[in-house]
Amino acid sequence: MRNVTKENITDAFAGYISKDTDPRTAEVMNSLAKHLHAFVRETQLTHAEWEKGIEMLEWAGEISDKERHEMVLLSDLLGISSLVDLINMVPGGSSSSVLGPFHIAGAPAIPFGHDMKRHYEGPILLSKGVIQNMKGEPIEGAQIDIWQTAPNGLYSSQDPEQGTYSFHGIQTVGSDGRYGFTTVKPVSYEVPTDGPAGALLSATGRQAWRPSHLHFIVKAKGYRTLVSEVFAGDDPYLDEDAVFGVREDLVMHYEDMPAGSFPDGFDLSGKVDGPYMQVDFDLTLVAE
Ligand code: BEZ
Ligand code: FE
Repeated sequence: MRNVTKENITDAFAGYISKDTDPRTAEVMNSLAKHLHAFVRETQLTHAEWEKGIEMLEWAGEISDKERHEMVLLSDLLGISSLVDLINMVPGGSSSSVLGPFHIAGAPAIPFGHDMKRHYEGPILLSKGVIQNMKGEPIEGAQIDIWQTAPNGLYSSQDPEQGTYSFHGIQTVGSDGRYGFTTVKPVSYEVPTDGPAGALLSATGRQAWRPSHLHFIVKAKGYRTLVSEVFAGDDPYLDEDAVFGVREDLVMHYEDMPAGSFPDGFDLSGKVDGPYMQVDFDLTLVAE
């Protein structure tokens, strides 16, 4: 277009897209341009503000590496990750929630009853449940990949004191669909604030806390992969999660269990005389 104006620039963008472009790519790019242009018009963005935005994106690129994913964090804090989850959810299955930037692929296999807490201080949490389909039938062979922070609120990739796969493990369930392990009760923690994501939070007076949670990815042949988390029902940050990840069905009651009631079949069986905590959550997968 020879005479580009603020009125026709969005149509000009659409006109530049080749007719041979994959239709979904064309649809997404046209919509993206339409909404970005509308944002610029609505806010009457200044050059200084536009430069600030570009600087933030460049900073996100510079601070990111194989273990630090600042663009994911920005997407999470803007509510985009959660919105993608919410529009792709299928009613009847367990809710999905944010993956976050701290999952590490290739965690070691852990058998039923495995103890992830090891020498770490804090309340013992016994976590168990069934992986099932929408008919309530157990899914044999489903795999649950679990990860969480240590009691200091840091994931292993953030903390040189922890081994690579500290508080990470993958369990494969048998014909009863049951998984079970012990860990330390997860803690609330702040998302990293030393980069552009933190600048975004402080510029808008937002807090950086996430309510305590256990992350998991459940995979099974013939089913949609579930990426989600389970939250503690007594956490003070449930109503203000910085990344909008809380869903009602993912908030669980962590039960206080009396001394002398620790069950058989766990690594810690016979070693826990005092009280401990327990959370029981079943996970429902949706067929592909
Ligand atoms: C997390 O829960 O690991 C997380 C999610 C989003 C942003 C930062 C951390
Ligand atoms: Fe987390």
